[in-house]
Amino acid sequence: MKVAVVGAGKMGREVEAVLRDRGHEPVLVSRGQPFPAGCAVGIDFTRPEAVVENLKKALSARARYVIGTTGWNDRAEEVRRLVEESRGGLVHAANFSLGVNLFYRIVAEAARVLAPFPDYDPWVLERHHRQKKDAPSGTAKTLAALVESAAPGRKAATSLSGALGAGQFLVSAVRAGGIVGEHTVGFDAGGDEILLEHRARTRRGFAQGAVLAAEWISTRDGVFGFDAVLADLGARV
Ligand SMILES: NC(=O)c1ccc[n+]([C@@H]2O[C@H](COP(=O)([O-])OP(=O)(O)OC[C@H]3O[C@@H](n4cnc5c(N)ncnc54)[C@H](OP(=O)(O)O)[C@@H]3O)[C@@H](O)[C@H]2O)c1
Repeated sequence: MKVAVVGAGKMGREVEAVLRDRGHEPVLVSRGQPFPAGCAVGIDFTRPEAVVENLKKALSARARYVIGTTGWNDRAEEVRRLVEESRGGLVHAANFSLGVNLFYRIVAEAARVLAPFPDYDPWVLERHHRQKKDAPSGTAKTLAALVESAAPGRKAATSLSGALGAGQFLVSAVRAGGIVGEHTVGFDAGGDEILLEHRARTRRGFAQGAVLAAEWISTRDGVFGFDAVLADLGARV
């Protein structure tokens, strides 16, 4: 399958390699270039401000789309409408790593088990390389949402100007060097603490998930998350 790799940065290069490994034909698309003809799907790892315009170009070319770029949540409704109006297909995920998607389930279960014990005070910390443009990461926001939904009354805060309010928990970020991506969820009860952590060592896992999503959406219509892809492929996750 001919696949447009929109954004030739760190992730775009990984996606290109995975596509070749899986027998596809990648076409790299840099900023300012049109969506290439004949591509059944596009995979977007660019920057938040570029996502909607890139999607419009792909939909006009009748291509399905995969968005790995993070930080565009404020335009989620518009994105859904665009895809549905053009009867297109989209998979988007803040994290295409299988390990992180398994981690989501572990964190959701931990938050559920700990919800009746309010002394176990949650926190979320993510660490990434210094070039990352959004903070906290989309993955950290998803983890915070899992904690919130398991324990009504808990509310995530992504910045602080004083002490935490009742029920609030902090979602914070570290930016330094070349860290690929690390997410920690802690539950601190004063006398002890429970820690859960996922560390990505390379970008290859993200690229593999995005390519899997591209293969899957190439024959489908609608707007999906990566969980739908994994579930449909029979992954016992
Ligand atoms: N979902 C996941 O699993 C996952 C995993 C890792 C990263 N990410 C996200 O993916 C995004 C990219 O990460 P990265 O580490 O690859 O960043 P990066 O190395 O900075 O690469 C982004 C590339 O996109 C290019 N670009 C910007 N606007 C474009 C446009 N309109 N059309 C085509 N190319 C364009 C940039 O070119 P210029 O230099 O000219 O701007 C750059 O080459 C970020 O949002 C990051 O958070 C997601």
